[in-house]
Amino acid sequence: MIQKSTIDAVFETARLEEVIGDFVQLKKSGSNFKGLSPFTDERTPSFMVSPVKQIWKDFSSGKGGNVVAFLMEHEHISYPEAIRYLAKKYNIEIEETEQNDEQKAAANARESMYLVSSFANSYFQDTLWETVQGKTIGLSYFRERGFTDQTVRDFQLGYSPDDWSALTDASIKAGYKLEFLEKTGLTIVKEDKKFDRFKGRVMFPIHSMSGRVLGFGGRILNQDKKAAKYMNSPESEIYNKSKVLYGLYQAKQSIAKADNCFLVEGYTDVIQFHQKGVKNVVSSSGTALTPEQIRLIRRLTPNITVLFDGDAAGLRASLRGIDLILEAGMNVRVCSFTEGEDPDSFAKTHSQDELVHFLEANAKDFIRFKAALLVNEAAQDPIKKSETIREMVQSIAKIPDPIKQEVYVRSCAALMDISEEVLFATLAQITQKKPKYSAQPQRSQPMAVVPNSDKPQASTRFELEKNIIKILLLHGHEEIFFEEPMLETDPKTGDLKMIPSKVKARVFEKIYLDLQQDEIAFTTHTFKSLYPKILNALNVQDVLQIDAFVATLPPDLASEVSSLLLNDEQYALHDWERKNIYVLNKAASLPQWILEIMLRFRCQLIDEKVSTLQEKTEQDHKEHHAELLEEIVQYHKLKNILSGRLNRVV
Ligand code: CTP
Ligand code: MN
Repeated sequence: MIQKSTIDAVFETARLEEVIGDFVQLKKSGSNFKGLSPFTDERTPSFMVSPVKQIWKDFSSGKGGNVVAFLMEHEHISYPEAIRYLAKKYNIEIEETEQNDEQKAAANARESMYLVSSFANSYFQDTLWETVQGKTIGLSYFRERGFTDQTVRDFQLGYSPDDWSALTDASIKAGYKLEFLEKTGLTIVKEDKKFDRFKGRVMFPIHSMSGRVLGFGGRILNQDKKAAKYMNSPESEIYNKSKVLYGLYQAKQSIAKADNCFLVEGYTDVIQFHQKGVKNVVSSSGTALTPEQIRLIRRLTPNITVLFDGDAAGLRASLRGIDLILEAGMNVRVCSFTEGEDPDSFAKTHSQDELVHFLEANAKDFIRFKAALLVNEAAQDPIKKSETIREMVQSIAKIPDPIKQEVYVRSCAALMDISEEVLFATLAQITQKKPKYSAQPQRSQPMAVVPNSDKPQASTRFELEKNIIKILLLHGHEEIFFEEPMLETDPKTGDLKMIPSKVKARVFEKIYLDLQQDEIAFTTHTFKSLYPKILNALNVQDVLQIDAFVATLPPDLASEVSSLLLNDEQYALHDWERKNIYVLNKAASLPQWILEIMLRFRCQLIDEKVSTLQEKTEQDHKEHHAELLEEIVQYHKLKNILSGRLNRVV
């Protein structure tokens, strides 16, 4: 665990505009910066950064938040990873909270394994680019395969010298321990002898999503039939091949932008696609696709296109991967290449346009794909055909969303020329045999339309609550004069009179008291959780520093706060008419704004109250009618008074 003091130091030091500036070209725009959204392909700048408030908002995707939220969204890393990233950028030493010896040792061991892997990665690259052996054997191999130097750099490809222990010796000389060379599999230790695992191979480093080197694949250069073509790092504490996708580090941004991920079989398929400009591509590196790998993709897009080599071998087995994808609730399309062709060779021999066009023209949904397989095999064979149909329905049964299921059933019926009834009956049979829904964590949402109480965007109540939160955030600490009717005794007559007077108070205290007096509670979930947090912050500080405050919030709330505060500026950004904005007189003074909101809130509450009373009169027995009506009349009177005051304010 990273210590709180380190996290604080990171937030104090990091400048949002600098951090974002590393990824997005920002232009000054008033007191803010703006740029093109890094999350979508929009052409107009809709990405705003506020250096004062240290928050950002992307109006095309709706995302927003503080500096950590940006890194998490953009780099697809976790909270601690984002903190570490910033600490590194700003040279802040990371202090870890106390761990027991065992935890410490484990963390240290993992860290040492990362470090030695990173060293090996540099070593292999240096060897490739700077030694005679590397250049004449390794680099020329890559060039012969059609990789440009840029591509070799992008994927950090390298070369492992054809010596028994070149890497091992260099590592130990540089201070790395044999223990971790062995644990990562870089070195094979036999009694007192040490061998480099990847001797004489060209190297493909395998990165985590955030870019750490976890392991390697090494390809042999000669045609030695006895040796495996690829040698891979063994599973270790840092490399778990079922949880890694090759190329994801280089592809993640493109996958999110394209909203689709191509899945290929090998290292070279990924690299060749990338070089041809199709960068949203990853590989499961020759192993069967796992649910963990699917989850990695699902963080970026719900759409996967699986690409198969031209040879039919292993195709049936790979079809199981498709069911796994369907089960994860994702959309899957399938595209196969012609006999003897694989993604690598196709990309190598075609232009970018041809490649893109081919993928568009040949990617089929899984039903069509299975149907096409059958046509190739034996379309006239009734046994084969019924088998295929059953397989299709079995796949459809994996889809969690019943609407999608139905769409696919219809498509299958039309395609295979069979009645929908039979298919639905088969589907029902299959789903019944499956364990009950609870066994599967991500089942579909219930079909009923549930009113989303969290975002009644259009409702008056929501707008009012939003305005209060906004006032608290921006002006909560200010001390201002409010007009308030006070009871005073007339010195002449001794009568009690209401005298309009000015009362000095801090904004947040005034709002707090008003809300309490009227027993108003926030109905919107985010506001409900933000409200006490803001009050707390204001209670202990003289001024609410938005950037520091946002830093203390969980990412979702931080994002809400930035939308709230940057939303008005969106209008300035697009130069839109500021219509339909609830509070029109923002230019008016703060006390008036507050007064208006509070009055409107009371009117709103009365409206709500009246409508419940009216409902009651419709349901209740006649004897209560008179009482209820009387109450309604009273409320109407009160509302008239309030409206009168409101009119004077607005
Ligand atoms: N693979 C492996 N070990 C092998 C063969 C293959 O780990 N002995 C994995 C590699 O990740 C490889 C993938 O399976 O990238 C696909 O195998 P293949 O199609 O044979 O390799 P290519 O990537 O096409 O490699 P090349 O084009 O260099 O032959
Ligand atoms: Mn190949």
